[in-house]
Amino acid sequence: MKTLIKNAVVVLPEGSVETSVLIDGKKIATIDAAIQTTVDQTVDAGGKHLIPGVIDDQVHFREPGLTHKEDLAHASRACAKGGVTSFLEMPNTVPNTVTVDVLHDKLKMAQSRSLVNYGFYIGATPDNVGELRHARRTPGIKIFIGSSTGNLLVDEQAALETIFAETILPICAHCEDESTVRENAARYANSKDIADHSRVRDHRAAFIATQRAIDLAVRHQHRFHVLHVSTAAEIDLIAAGGDLITAEVCPHHLFFNVDDYASLGSLVKMNPSIKTKSDNQKLWQALLDGVITVIATDHAPHTIEEKQQPYPACPSGLPAVENSLALMLNQVCQGKCSLEQVVKWMSTEPARVWGIQNKGKIEVGYDADLALVDLSLTQTVLNENQETKCGWTPWHGTELTGWPVATWVMGHQVFRQEDGKSQFDSSVLGKEIEYRH
Ligand code: DOR
Repeated sequence: MKTLIKNAVVVLPEGSVETSVLIDGKKIATIDAAIQTTVDQTVDAGGKHLIPGVIDDQVHFREPGLTHKEDLAHASRACAKGGVTSFLEMPNTVPNTVTVDVLHDKLKMAQSRSLVNYGFYIGATPDNVGELRHARRTPGIKIFIGSSTGNLLVDEQAALETIFAETILPICAHCEDESTVRENAARYANSKDIADHSRVRDHRAAFIATQRAIDLAVRHQHRFHVLHVSTAAEIDLIAAGGDLITAEVCPHHLFFNVDDYASLGSLVKMNPSIKTKSDNQKLWQALLDGVITVIATDHAPHTIEEKQQPYPACPSGLPAVENSLALMLNQVCQGKCSLEQVVKWMSTEPARVWGIQNKGKIEVGYDADLALVDLSLTQTVLNENQETKCGWTPWHGTELTGWPVATWVMGHQVFRQEDGKSQFDSSVLGKEIEYRH
């Protein structure tokens, strides 16, 4: 199958140019404005921008075990609609992904269910270093240094030293200090105020755990990625960590802060908690400065009934994969950053950080994972339009300008939007992501 995408402004590694892109099979075959060849399909993309598909390196798609909240079929359609062509999924499914066998079961399951490309982390426990050493078909190791949804936790120093010393895969971690969170939780034990979530999971908890993890990485000279940075204070730690350390920020930590509890309540309860307006601004600046280089969603759906339980019973997490690119394109349209920066944060850098082969750039020979975006399209995010199984979004009612209107995964068009309606083609599914390690 050959597809010619004509006349888009194409975001190439060396800059953006109006040109045409020929897809042959699963690959980008030619990039040339004057291309003349017989094809199966021509897409006239004049006035739109073609970018490499988003690689979301932190999602919770809940399969197996928690499929009343989300599953691979719904979540991967949400990805396709959001311009996300590859995802890396976290290990707090049931059973936890803490053995090579469970990892391989998950890969097999995704092969028949995921519309987009997929990868799965292997989770650390205090005593599974043997499994962590043998895992290969994974981007890396996830450690919950602080507990969150589920029961994964590695908090003992000796176990952490062993993991950093004896494994070679890149490590990423959820950094909130468990003892600090427990002490704070005891102090607010009788609270019914959702805003206390940010006092329990406070700035100090994030700082202590990130400092501890970076110290381990530097001493053991181990590649380490700080997941979902939420505070300004962590930025200096990341900058001082040098080349071994990379970091990411989520849209909710850029765009929500403690003032939003009043209107959104538990919909914006997540771990790490949302912090202050000043943290929002400093995290944004850290992206612009190149200290934080990745944007990921931490897409973590729960049913609306679960979320509507009173604090503290309501679970932490929110869905975001289908709106993250549009949220960032809206920033482009407001002049806060460039489209090229968004491509770097959401595609090129995640590919580099996780050693992903042949993705993250529009280049001849690379996989044809592409998103066509319309920077003049304004649409309102609505609960009733969400593809995620949980059927709600904290951005309900928000008007955004700049939306993905077509998505290709390995050369196959999986999504297009026409006259405001989403069309999906699931006749060809996504593929397992390959890594350099
Ligand atoms: O808020 C969160 N929810 N943070 C996490 O780290 C886990 C996630 C989940 O799985 O629900």
